[in-house]
Amino acid sequence: MKHKHLDAFPADFLWGSASAAYQIEGAHDADGKGESIWDVFVKKPGTTFQDTTGDIAVDHYHRYLEDVALMAEQGLKAYRFSVSWARIFPNGKGEINQAGLDFYNALIDELVKYQIEPIVTIYHWDLPQALQDEYGGFESRELIQDFTNYAKVLFEAFSDRVKYWISLNEQNVFITHGYLLGLHPPKVKDLKRTLSANHIANLANASVIAAFREGNYPGQIGPSFNFSPIYALNADPENVLAKMDTEELMDFFWLDVYARGYYPRTVLKQLIEQGLMTEPTKADYALLAKGKPDFIGLNYYQSATVTKNDALSLSQEGMQMNHSGKKGTSRSISIPSVSKFTKNTYLEQTNWDWTIDPVGIRSALRTIESRYALPVLITENGLGEYDQFENGEIDDSYRIDYLKQHLKQVQEAITDGVQVLGYCSWSFTDLLSWLNGYQKRYGFVYVDRDETSEKTLNRYKKKSFYWYQEVIATNGASLTKKEND
Ligand code: BG6
Repeated sequence: MKHKHLDAFPADFLWGSASAAYQIEGAHDADGKGESIWDVFVKKPGTTFQDTTGDIAVDHYHRYLEDVALMAEQGLKAYRFSVSWARIFPNGKGEINQAGLDFYNALIDELVKYQIEPIVTIYHWDLPQALQDEYGGFESRELIQDFTNYAKVLFEAFSDRVKYWISLNEQNVFITHGYLLGLHPPKVKDLKRTLSANHIANLANASVIAAFREGNYPGQIGPSFNFSPIYALNADPENVLAKMDTEELMDFFWLDVYARGYYPRTVLKQLIEQGLMTEPTKADYALLAKGKPDFIGLNYYQSATVTKNDALSLSQEGMQMNHSGKKGTSRSISIPSVSKFTKNTYLEQTNWDWTIDPVGIRSALRTIESRYALPVLITENGLGEYDQFENGEIDDSYRIDYLKQHLKQVQEAITDGVQVLGYCSWSFTDLLSWLNGYQKRYGFVYVDRDETSEKTLNRYKKKSFYWYQEVIATNGASLTKKEND
């Protein structure tokens, strides 16, 4: 729909930015921290771009005061970060490492000092290696209790100052990349094991939310989900059906469980018939019902477009992801008997072959509203690109354009009637992009380091830093200001 006038962003809109522990902190073995599965995984040659690791990352652990001062200078209203589980429990459970709690307490205090709302992600992929070794991490139900105990420690320690909690970050990504595609730890490629680990992650997520409710902690909690709206290539009814099948499989297979407490029936039926899953037990359903979130965290980067796929098995070529930043080197996968992913000729792509689709964020917001009627906190959205540092300046106008187009669509969605609590760009400083090294930059703040050297790790404000500063100061009004006003 077209609006004559756009609603203003709500007065208490959380203008934020985000990060994750492994991608920024460094200090991988400092002050009693245990190893995480990422600490171990990245040391295996050939797993990441140019064998980059987060051992030092952008050294936020030692530079958080400087980073928070920059956030305050920009005027951020909220900052989303994750806690490293292995800093709090070096062995995943048992004895608490007080130094770990001290670090996050100091970070939260610093944010509160500048009236920046802390948004805490409890789990952003860095499982303690000890739990992987002991019982196979997400493949064991023991994880549910250990994850809940860890979360409770955070609730007790921080809920006097933290009002927004993210339970799991992108379960759909860490489970599919870790157990189906073999790209993330524990590097498994097995559909049945994927579905089993995923079900346990669902239960762990619900258990943590239930514990939050039982503890009567103030504030709100929900998972962050990597949501790609799915489009049919055209109006061929077979393609439209393929779109429906694909979104049930790739989006609602997770979102329905979070918001409704059960899997989409059509998907579950097929998986049970193929012997890949069993019907969850009554006890599991009871736990899932207790795990309803207050909001959905939306991580939005791109949409996907599909056509029907009559082939019953995977093509020999298989999927290939672009981790090098060489445009056009990715090859998308097809889902046997469901759909084939195809290029959307209306949309451009980044150097890492990610589709740029601002309207897609509005579609994602609208889908969450119409299917679940829950508020949305946008917990990630951003552009990973090469940045040039020239004469002390970084002109990232392409990032400004990307963020501006997406934020305008967020405003459209608010005007449509979606309840949007806030928007966190990805990311505040540059950081380690998991498998893509340091050259794929996302931040408002440039960090002087690359794949081969930590260099100075000095921070420099990019052009986008000042642009977002104005967006926040005007509560979004500058987004729709005429260029020559
Ligand atoms: C999300 C993750 O999937 O996307 C972030 O939550 C990640 O941790 C971001 O960095 C961008 O992905 P990538 O692969 O470009 O770093």
